[in-house]
Amino acid sequence: MLSSRSTAFIFCYILLFCASVDALLYTDPKKLPKIHYDFVIVGAGTAGNVMANRLTENGQFSVLVIEAGVNNEGVLATTVPFLAPTSQPASPILWNYTTVPQKGLDNRVLGYSRGRILGGSSSVNFMTYTRGSDDDYDRWAKLVEDQVWSAKNLEPYYLKSSRLVPPADHHNTNGQVNPVVHGNGPVKISVPGFPTDIDARVINSSHELSSQFPFNLDVQSGNTIGISVVQNTVDSQGRRSSSATAYLQSILDRPNLDVLIQTQVTRLKQSGITSRKPIFKVVEFAQSSTGPRFQVTANNEVILCTGTINTPQILMLSGIGDAITLKKIGITPIVDLPDVGQNLQDHPILSNYFVVNTTNTFDTEWNTTGEGLFVDAPGNTLGFLRVNQSVLHGVADPSAGPKSGHFEMIFADGFAVTAEASPASGNYITVNTAVVSPSSRGSITLASTDPFAFPNMDPAFLTASLDVSIMVAAVKAVRQFVTASPWRGYITSRFGNMGMANTDEEIAAASRLGVVTIWHPTSTAMMSPANASWGVVDTRLLVKGTVGLRIVDASVFPVIPAGHTVGPVYIVAERAADFIKSEWC
Ligand SMILES: Cc1cc2nc3c(=O)[nH]c(=O)nc-3n(C[C@H](O)[C@H](O)[C@H](O)COP(=O)(O)OP(=O)(O)OC[C@H]3O[C@@H](n4cnc5c(N)ncnc54)[C@H](O)[C@@H]3O)c2cc1C
Ligand SMILES: *[C@@H]1O[C@H](CO)[C@@H](O)[C@H](O)[C@H]1NC(C)=O
Ligand SMILES: *[C@@H]1O[C@H](CO)[C@@H](O)[C@H](O)[C@H]1NC(C)=O
Ligand SMILES: *[C@@H]1O[C@H](CO)[C@@H](O)[C@H](O)[C@H]1NC(C)=O
Ligand SMILES: *[C@@H]1O[C@H](CO)[C@@H](O)[C@H](O)[C@H]1NC(C)=O
Ligand SMILES: *[C@@H]1O[C@H](CO)[C@@H](O)[C@H](O)[C@H]1NC(C)=O
Ligand SMILES: *[C@@H]1O[C@H](CO)[C@@H](O)[C@H](O)[C@H]1NC(C)=O
Repeated sequence: MLSSRSTAFIFCYILLFCASVDALLYTDPKKLPKIHYDFVIVGAGTAGNVMANRLTENGQFSVLVIEAGVNNEGVLATTVPFLAPTSQPASPILWNYTTVPQKGLDNRVLGYSRGRILGGSSSVNFMTYTRGSDDDYDRWAKLVEDQVWSAKNLEPYYLKSSRLVPPADHHNTNGQVNPVVHGNGPVKISVPGFPTDIDARVINSSHELSSQFPFNLDVQSGNTIGISVVQNTVDSQGRRSSSATAYLQSILDRPNLDVLIQTQVTRLKQSGITSRKPIFKVVEFAQSSTGPRFQVTANNEVILCTGTINTPQILMLSGIGDAITLKKIGITPIVDLPDVGQNLQDHPILSNYFVVNTTNTFDTEWNTTGEGLFVDAPGNTLGFLRVNQSVLHGVADPSAGPKSGHFEMIFADGFAVTAEASPASGNYITVNTAVVSPSSRGSITLASTDPFAFPNMDPAFLTASLDVSIMVAAVKAVRQFVTASPWRGYITSRFGNMGMANTDEEIAAASRLGVVTIWHPTSTAMMSPANASWGVVDTRLLVKGTVGLRIVDASVFPVIPAGHTVGPVYIVAERAADFIKSEWC
């Protein structure tokens, strides 16, 4: 088996004909060589591939990974950053999910896509990389009453997950990034290799207005506050670095690893009982709603890595969730865990448009290609900032601490299409504002007992009034920022729905019309102290009240970090791999 796989690999390489790489991946469940593996990893997404790599590296364990989506090799849109999600919303590489009507957003329904491909959402995301602030993790440790999750104790896992590499244009990055705060892991991180007209204006403005908008040399320093150059999961050749390219592709020929793609896990089955706890080591899967069901058994553990939407869906389909709700929909409850699917958190984002006095924005180019920015290119600069105490009007600070932002600004050199359509002509810049310390809490619930049906997804954006206050403050902060001298004679007017809003009430109303998701859902299987009555997993990520079942993905975050979520997922996965090795080696 090893030799035929290696041969196939070399053959593929020589021909540069990547369809052959499929030879390393199983697409037919009937062809799987075994029905018992030490570990069965469900989902070859961001976290799943970290687990696949780390659990097979010492050769001691046999591992099967089951992924619903397709191979990432040869899918151009996942390689070339500028092509990134051109395929949104209907594409074979995406779960083309939508939310339920959003009460806080005038009942609008939002696109809620996830990656459905090797690498999961890391193969289709916008590549902005932030690890979060020290305060984000120290708050996790406090909430779960376990210092294992403090910033200091997670530092080695951050360093182990990513590394800084030169940008594609190999320009001098002095003053844009601090190499000292970077690690030596497989995910490649670089600053943008395509400068835009507004980059220097943004940085100069932060120097000019430094008390309100300080410059922050490196957003990975542990303190995220200030204006920074964006860092992307992009390598020195300008290609996307995903969990598939960084953690999986190079290890597909390991003899102790099998990967089955285009196959959906439909539920986990109880395989026994020990110390009065149900054992969940049998995984059931299928290739269509009506197709035959197959199953494999894990000798040690099943590791669920299917992400914030699908992890609670699979748990509930397996009888793990709120017992009363499960019974109502016709599922026999096995483990009563009311928090499964609850506590959904995400970052609402909206676009602030400005008309600019230049033809040198990306609008001119997109006008020709027919593509919008937010479906094409991320910004080159961003900022994490805090609101004034008065905005919090006496309520508890929703942020993790002074090193964490309440809101984010992302600067884009063109008209970023979010809720408003691109105008037919003109040149624009966009400052996207996101609430990164949301108080709103939503949920994932089952819409059907058919595992192939989509669950109900409700991020409940702007349902907490504090989120609206923070968004209003963020919009006002942007308007303050562009009063700095670098924008004089460059920005000529505000534009769009938000551009017309002046009073706080008008800005709030325009926010309800303008908010979309930045695709950061987390916390639907949240971690909590082992003896707490809330939460879904303990601090070693084992599902409470069960044996043999662990969750490793963004669903376990106790709170959403005030940053982009892919970095924290890699950190959690590296941490979890060491738990598992220490328990089973
Ligand atoms: C469009 C978009 C843009 C984003 N932009 C950014 C960004 O710029 N920066 C950033 O930091 N974050 C960004 N994110 C968020 C970030 O990518 C995610 O938080 C992170 O990748 C989630 O990792 P995960 O391991 O939890 O889940 P995923 O990476 O989504 O992995 C879950 C995997 O499980 C598979 N799966 C699901 N159900 C089943 C099943 N039943 N059977 C088998 N397999 C299954 C899925 O196909 C997928 O491969 C973005 C996300 C999206 C979708
Ligand atoms: C999702 O994609 C499928 C098939 O590509 C299509 O039938 C369906 O209408 C799409 N749904 C949404 C909400 O775009
Ligand atoms: C930014 O500041 C630098 C250094 O002072 C200056 O050379 C440059 O012209 C400024 N650029 C803009 C766009 O303000
Ligand atoms: C905070 O207050 C200062 C002065 O009172 C004001 O200039 C600034 O815009 C406020 N910042 C935010 C983010 O609301
Ligand atoms: C976009 O194209 C239209 C015609 O197709 C043209 O009138 C307009 O000036 C163009 N806008 C920009 C910014 O190039
Ligand atoms: C546009 O920029 C030019 C210089 O490039 C300047 O002369 C003109 O006044 C600017 N227009 C506005 C409306 O600011
Ligand atoms: C949980 O256990 C710890 C000790 O292990 C104890 O300090 C804590 O008070 C307990 N919490 C609850 C909610 O019982």
